[in-house]
Amino acid sequence: MKSIIDYIEKNLSAERLRHTYGVCDTAAELAKQYGADTEKAYTAALFHDMYKGISQEMLETLAERYGLEERYKNNLNLAHSKLAAATMEFEYGITDKELLDAVSYHTTGRAGMSLLEKILYIADATEPGRDYPGVEGLRMLARHDIDKACLVACEHTIKYLESLHRSVDPDSIEARDDFIKKENYMKVNENTKSIAFAAAKFLDEKKAEDIVIIDISGRAAFADYMIVSSGNSERQIGNLADDLKDKLAESDIIAKNTEGEKSSGWLLIDFGDVIVNVLTKEMRQRYNIEKVWGDCKFIDLEGEI
Ligand SMILES: [Fe+2]
Ligand SMILES: [Fe+2]
Repeated sequence: MKSIIDYIEKNLSAERLRHTYGVCDTAAELAKQYGADTEKAYTAALFHDMYKGISQEMLETLAERYGLEERYKNNLNLAHSKLAAATMEFEYGITDKELLDAVSYHTTGRAGMSLLEKILYIADATEPGRDYPGVEGLRMLARHDIDKACLVACEHTIKYLESLHRSVDPDSIEARDDFIKKENYMKVNENTKSIAFAAAKFLDEKKAEDIVIIDISGRAAFADYMIVSSGNSERQIGNLADDLKDKLAESDIIAKNTEGEKSSGWLLIDFGDVIVNVLTKEMRQRYNIEKVWGDCKFIDLEGEI
């Protein structure tokens, strides 16, 4: 197989080469941190800017060879990503779609980016040689929230292009809108999580026992969190349910429905995205609700368990 290292060592300027290796190291570090394939991240980075800085003539030759879409033809800034991906596929025999897409979209981003795409996108913007206002903050953000970091980088690029009155590729706009949507979803989800914690904390104060919060968001469509707790008697579970409803109502969180009778030993209160079960110890043991959700994340008041 052709060596991409030989190619870039021979054809890239010293500055571009240093940038490329910077992106390689940053992409591999991020891949390790986020559980992606470090080798793929490094490989994608080696290829990503192989055509940055080519002549107009070479651009035209490559554009012709790979049937480059019209919208990229007079824009080397966009064309270099697409042409690099095509070269990886047709000259280096790389068929891994994830790898090709990471290189293809490293300049614009797009809606629904894979983890590898995000890693290359953000590594490109934050490698150690990058120096622009806000880059240090972006580096820190990339290490703990790659989606948010991509959103910031994407907004930065769009604003920059707009300030120069240059056109913004539709993929970049769609990428930004997609990250905003995710960000809003996370906010809603954080809010739901805090309701679940508030409910669990209140039950704890009221002496409910063995309280667990189960994150069922990945498994169920009807709610995000399920709380399971026990009381010592039918009377206590009735009181716990009533008091919890009153408590949450103070914050305008109104129970949609309560199922079961305290005499049955099991009350289920539906707060929408949070479902609270209060059971007598006997019923808790008999039904073992936790077992149904065994593959979900369990959290107690101290944190994850
Ligand atoms: Fe690039
Ligand atoms: Fe780059």
